[in-house]
Order: sequence, then C-alpha cells, then structure tokens
Amino acid sequence: MEKLTVDKMDPKKILVAPSLLAADFANLESELKRIEDAGADLLHLDIMDGHFVPNLTMGPPVISAIRKVSKLPFDVHLMLTDPIKYVEPFCKAGADLITFHIECDNDADDVIAEIRKHGVSVGISVKPKTPASAIEKYLDKIDLVLVMSVEPGFGGQSFMSEVVPKIAEIRKMANKVNPAIHVEVDGGIDGKTVNQVVPAGANMLVAGTAVFRAPDGAKAAIERLHAAQNQLP
Ligand code: DX5
Ligand code: ZN
Repeated sequence: MEKLTVDKMDPKKILVAPSLLAADFANLESELKRIEDAGADLLHLDIMDGHFVPNLTMGPPVISAIRKVSKLPFDVHLMLTDPIKYVEPFCKAGADLITFHIECDNDADDVIAEIRKHGVSVGISVKPKTPASAIEKYLDKIDLVLVMSVEPGFGGQSFMSEVVPKIAEIRKMANKVNPAIHVEVDGGIDGKTVNQVVPAGANMLVAGTAVFRAPDGAKAAIERLHAAQNQLP
C-alpha cells in the first residue's frame, strides 16, 4: 500500500486528527480502532520533553508499538527544545509527518532538511503569541503550519480565539507561495470552535478531548468537525 503522506492529502478537505493524549492509555489498541472506525483521517501524537513545555508524554518506543496496530497516518507534534536530535528515532518509529516548533533552539532549515532526509512530511508550529511573520520564509519549504490555539503542554484547555486572525493570515500568505500547504489548528477544538477556525482557513483539526471523550461517541464528534467542510474559504 502506498504511504499516505500529508503532501498527498487535499488541503481543501477538512481532515480530523484526534490527539492520542486524551485516549485511555491502558487500552491504546482499542482506542486506535475506535477512532479509526469513527472516521479519523490522521492520528495526532503529542511529544513533550518536560523542558520546552512543562509536561512529559511518550517517546519513540510507544510510537513504534502503536504503528503496528494502526493504519492512520501519524502526525507527530514535537514539543521539544532540541527536536533535531529526535527526528530520526521518530521517523524510524513510523511518523508520516513531523512538526516542530519555530520557538525551539534549532535552526529551522536544519530541522527541515533532517526531516526531509527521511522522506517524511514537514510541519512548523507556532505558539499562540508567536506571529505569522516568524514562519513566513519557510512556507515554500514545508507541507503544513500548525497554529496552536492553546499554550502547548496539556490537553483539555480552552480555545484562544485571539489566534483566529493569525490562521487567516497564514492561509493567505501560503496561498501566494505554496497553496498545497495544510493549516492545522491544535487546542480546544470542538463542534463549536470549529466554526471559528475553518472559515479562517484551517483545514486540519486536532481534537483530543472533543473526540476521545465525546459523550455521544467519537463518530458523532468527528462528524461535527467534518461538517465544517463548506465553511472553508
Ligand atoms: C497541547 C497538545 C494538543 C492537545 C489537544 O499541547 O498539542 O494536541 O492534546 O487537546 P484538546 O483537543 O483536548 O485541547
Ligand atoms: Zn498537539
């Protein structure tokens, strides 16, 4: 089967990436099956180092273990001070997309080259207070921009609506130089906030709590996000 990389996915389509952080960690295999059956397009994996963000999550061994029980493309979000060191282990573990933060300590061009070396798609993320201008010069070299709509570090936080203009700004800038780029948004996305971010131009939606902990089930939750399709600019 051909590997489904992000650059082959349609940026005019709403793509839902449930964040594993909100899953039941005692039952990862069944949780993965549950969201796959519910219509997830990718799996979002939050990797934290206890330094770039004040929390620790999982490393490459967990990713390679779940790689064996999921067909979803793995969207790996590196919240690390020194991401370049860990690109290779995460690629080997099965990442299809690696996103690093522009606020990290490494040179962005070096990290992009290191990810490309492994034939993996590249994303750059911006924290809520980082302006769009910080990533502008990289737009023609990457596949995705991840706009954080909470301060990175924890799931279950409230959506920050002040990032909405930045989503629109990045979408417009990208349309000029690299229209194939995906604009992903992460943090506090649910059936309500989706109506703010999609009209601004976000097509890839990370949702942890809203999908894994939906009272009416993951399928209904993912449908609510896909339903915003006709709001894409
Ligand atoms: C936060 C993470 C998010 C988080 C999203 O640092 O990057 O991916 O898990 O969780 P929710 O959807 O619950 O806000
Ligand atoms: Zn994330």
